[in-house]
Amino acid sequence: MTESTTEPARQDHTPLSPLPSAQPPVAFPQDRGCPYHPPAAYTPLREAGPLGRITLYDGRPARVVTGHALARQLLADPRLSTDRDRAGFPATSERVAKVRARRVALLGVDDPEHNTQRRLLIPSFSLKRITALRPQIQRTVDRLLDAMERQGPPAELVRAFALPLPSMVICSLLGVDYADHEFFEERSRVLLRGPAASDVERARDELESYLGALIDRKRREPGDGLLDELIHRESPDGPPDRDELIAFAVILLIAGHETTANMISLGTFTLLRHPDQLAALRSGEPATAVAVEELLRYLSIADGLLRVAREDIEVAGETIRAGEGVVFSTSLINRDEDAFAAPDALDWDRSARHHLAFGFGVHQCLGQNLARAELDIALRTLFARLPGLRLAVPAEEIPFKPGDTIQGMLELPVAW
Ligand code: HEM
Repeated sequence: MTESTTEPARQDHTPLSPLPSAQPPVAFPQDRGCPYHPPAAYTPLREAGPLGRITLYDGRPARVVTGHALARQLLADPRLSTDRDRAGFPATSERVAKVRARRVALLGVDDPEHNTQRRLLIPSFSLKRITALRPQIQRTVDRLLDAMERQGPPAELVRAFALPLPSMVICSLLGVDYADHEFFEERSRVLLRGPAASDVERARDELESYLGALIDRKRREPGDGLLDELIHRESPDGPPDRDELIAFAVILLIAGHETTANMISLGTFTLLRHPDQLAALRSGEPATAVAVEELLRYLSIADGLLRVAREDIEVAGETIRAGEGVVFSTSLINRDEDAFAAPDALDWDRSARHHLAFGFGVHQCLGQNLARAELDIALRTLFARLPGLRLAVPAEEIPFKPGDTIQGMLELPVAW
């Protein structure tokens, strides 16, 4: 990261005239130069939007959607599939290809089967249910910060706070013993960014057999977690079977864990690099929940939602051919000037609610109420309890995640 000012110079993103197809393809994904901005190498895609061409890690070509209106249209279009087994389905790295080679519940399933699965889970993620969880999330945040304060300063915020919080919340939601949380954190860390494909495979195997055993035990000795609810949930097709339950637990664990952790770590880093916005937040204007929405837009940590066209789609003056991979770059979509004025600024005064950081359409994030509650409580409590919170080393020395994973900080050394 080369940036030393708190806010980068605005670039001119005036659209250029050439058709998207006239642009040479851009390699996707690429590492960010600054953890809270899209890679500079994506600028031609942004300028030529809303539909461009990219080359994936394995040399395959694919389409990329960068425009907000087009993204909403296409993410709601059933002619785009999330079925990883379909020919042409794009992958952003070998590791992603490997993880995706297994059947993924919800996110890897098209309607109508997807809808059946989603309906089973929706009641457990309603706003009412999540609101009821807030006192428990607050207690967890308080306990983690108590421990961090006892041992520091300094502290490494990812390990001390950003990662354990969502991990503890999701374990408790699923009804997994907290004693096993380290096992979970380690396996899902490997699953998301394991060094080699074989590590990813092994982590997934271990996770699945653990969850299988847990489900067997819960059938014998019912408890009160989400898995217990699912085991007994009434539906026209009957309750989910053991394999389905395992698949639900795996996707919730993966989707609900590192995403939120990365938003906490990258959100904290970004706020510390934007002192004016942080000061405003500390003064209570805006409410943290409003700032969380703008941070979700600004950081767009899940950058690269994957689909494949089932049939030819005429759109934006072009044809996406059947079998072509389509990648949605949320970092560019959420900085589309037609949807957000001065999109490169972190601005508490804008309304950012229509961002696509949680996706859009039938696969829109199931856990967004939970993620919002965790982020609201985590960031508000962190900055209220530690008014002197600061980076413990120069920003340029802090490692952040590569472009082919959910974006976030690998470590965040802080002092106060
Ligand atoms: C800030 C944190 C989070 C972000 C940025 C995020 C982002 C996303 C995005 C972009 C999608 C859509 C993917 C696509 O269309 O290809 C998605 C789907 C999903 N998310 Fe989240 N997520 C977050 C937290 C969570 C949490 C806490 C949970 C659950 C505990 C969760 C569970 C899911 C599930 C199950 C899906 C698949 C939904 C479906 O296919 O119907 N997410 N998430």
